[in-house]
Amino acid sequence: MSNNNNDNLIIEKLFKPKSIAVVGASRNLEKIGGVILSNLVKNKFNGKIYAVNPSAKEILGVPSYPSLLDIPDEVEHIVVAIPAEKVPEIIEEAGKKGVKVATIIASGFKEVGRADLEEKVVNIAKKYGIRILGPNVFGVVYTPMNLNATFGAEHIHKGKIAFLTQSGALGIALMHWTSMEKIGLSSIVSMGNMADIDAIDLAKFFEKDENTKVIGLYLEGLGTGKGHEFIEVFSEITKKKPVIALKAGRSERGTRAVASHTGSLAGSDAVYDSALKQAGVLRASDVEQLFNWAKMMAFSESFEINGKGFVIITNGGGMGVMATDASEFNGLPLLEVPEELKKEFRKTMPWFGSPNNPIDLTGQSNVQNYIEAIKVALESELVSGITVMYGEVAFLDPVELANGIAKTLKEYNKSRKPVNVVMLGGEKTKMGTEILEENGVPVYPIPEKAISSMAALYKYSKIIGKANLKI
Ligand code: ACO
Repeated sequence: MSNNNNDNLIIEKLFKPKSIAVVGASRNLEKIGGVILSNLVKNKFNGKIYAVNPSAKEILGVPSYPSLLDIPDEVEHIVVAIPAEKVPEIIEEAGKKGVKVATIIASGFKEVGRADLEEKVVNIAKKYGIRILGPNVFGVVYTPMNLNATFGAEHIHKGKIAFLTQSGALGIALMHWTSMEKIGLSSIVSMGNMADIDAIDLAKFFEKDENTKVIGLYLEGLGTGKGHEFIEVFSEITKKKPVIALKAGRSERGTRAVASHTGSLAGSDAVYDSALKQAGVLRASDVEQLFNWAKMMAFSESFEINGKGFVIITNGGGMGVMATDASEFNGLPLLEVPEELKKEFRKTMPWFGSPNNPIDLTGQSNVQNYIEAIKVALESELVSGITVMYGEVAFLDPVELANGIAKTLKEYNKSRKPVNVVMLGGEKTKMGTEILEENGVPVYPIPEKAISSMAALYKYSKIIGKANLKI
């Protein structure tokens, strides 16, 4: 890893190359090189694509050459999908070709005791100034360029979250899951053995990337002696963008499992925990939580939080209690609603509702009740943020409600308060969820997840000194 500007420009070529070549592209779509080429083609990569294969003239409409040196054009990024033993000679050719960055898919290096082969590859790359992603990776995605150079899911839902992962299988599974859940990604990067490019290099790119609002990290280890640099670099990044990490290998057995996975030394969990805290990185406890928090951050227009506490607006007392518990457990301060404001909330609900926080509009509430209550909360300077909760009832259509909430927030959320929504119910709530998220409102299926995500936003706001709550 290096700090100079030239290296940063080269890493940009990982995500924004003018041209990319798949070495080991195959006509056989059951082979990894075939799938990578197919993903690049089907996603309509915004640059030129070439294939390198000993016998093909063309694969999936892409011109194919027997060697990199035969390509009659410059090549900035290569994806190497041939067996490990053959990789050094390809990197040598890439050097002669003037390639800037190589993603090495092959396994069979340090993770299986072949540190010598890995070192050989890195040394050749250094000789030519090539940066290496991997080896032992599934590839890289960068949605603003329609770049999907992976053998993972073909379709990626576009958005503002960059996810960097040291686990390949987890990353591939999450490509499918985020697509199904419509969680929007700007990028997903498989970091594998991190023989050269590491989490620090990548995060520096995303710090400046205008297409990324939040960085998610799945980490097993940093690499020996990287702790101080990690804290230094991430302390700067987290001032500009939230970073959420999932650090595996917490238990003693987990630490041993890490060593046999990517060859990283996991180190003591307490040391990592303290390093992440010092760097202002939020630590999620599982993958779902990481993406729940990331979604909240990605949809938020501002991290400035004012007022005297958060409010919960609900149509169900039980959900309200669950959200209240979750607020306390997650350190989210709830507003003690003063009498004046209670009067305003009381006007938005049936006579048997409750204007205390949670604001309970009751199971008999309608869309208009929600809209009026949300308006009161948005307009009050005391309210720091709002969680709106809906438990499905037959006579309140979640689709109508979602449209009503989206419109109200668009018109009245002038001070850009953080707002999230819970939609708990059946099929129709899924439709409501989609409507809200298309309008930039994060939605969660249960109160605890919404509250934990709001609390993460509040925590980040405190980290960057933008929480001005007068409690
Ligand atoms: N230049 C160009 N093409 C070449 C070269 C070369 N020097 N040598 C071979 N090829 C071609 C082959 O002819 C073949 O094409 P074909 O099907 O048209 O004949 C293609 O490249 C692939 O070569 P194979 O020898 O068939 O290799 P295979 O596809 O079986 O495996 C791979 C290569 C995928 C790199 C394998 O060795 C490997 O490492 N697999 C593991 C990958 C992995 O899991 N990475 C970690 C991901 S993260 C996770 O855990 C999910």
